Amino acid sequence: MNKISVSIMCADPYNFSKDLEILEECNVDYLHIDIMDGHFVPNLGLGLDYINKFRKHTNIPFDYHLMIENPDKIIPKLDLREDDLVSIHFESSYRLEETLDIAKERNIKLFLAMNPGTPVRILRSAPEWLAGINFMTVNPGFAGQQILPTSYKKMSRLKNYLKELGCPDLTIEVDGNMDLENIEVFKNLGANIFVLGTSSIYKNHQLNKDEIIKIKGMI
Ligand code: DX5
Ligand code: ZN
Repeated sequence: MNKISVSIMCADPYNFSKDLEILEECNVDYLHIDIMDGHFVPNLGLGLDYINKFRKHTNIPFDYHLMIENPDKIIPKLDLREDDLVSIHFESSYRLEETLDIAKERNIKLFLAMNPGTPVRILRSAPEWLAGINFMTVNPGFAGQQILPTSYKKMSRLKNYLKELGCPDLTIEVDGNMDLENIEVFKNLGANIFVLGTSSIYKNHQLNKDEIIKIKGMI
């Protein structure tokens, strides 16, 4: 079954608790938590103290997107729960081995995030226990960007390559500019988790409940 992951960086922090009530009522599948360090991407996100406090207020699984260098240093500091997902970037990981070891030891559902310019063939060396791919359709770091047009063909290439590698059903999350039109296109191309932000449910940073219901019906 396909799922939605709501991008919290697109919310107005003033409305967090009200938004959380709506997101729980709508049974959203994940809260997408963008963590940034100002190095791997030229932006900063909420810090660990805030995120771990926020974590205590909901049972919605978290979908952590680590846009940071040295993810192996941060993963152990997250308040991880059984159904949470963690995406690390292939491009940030000159210590990929250490991060993979930590994830395996701790039984983490690990996703490998790929920038738009990163070729699908990097997946040849991915471990077979990887839980999924975070397929970026924009360069990471900022909400509200336009999809890179090369993303459509790359998604087809990815699906074909996963078939070749013998894992045609590996979960694919799509992150960046998922408006209604792109959701429809990427659903048909085989995506499974849709990150929803300013392009759909958080236009003008105000949560739109009707839009969540509509998208849940579409996927
Ligand atoms: C982009 C972030 C996304 C973003 C997605 O770097 O990873 O989570 O907020 O939402 P849009 O593109 O709709 O603002
Ligand atoms: Zn993200």
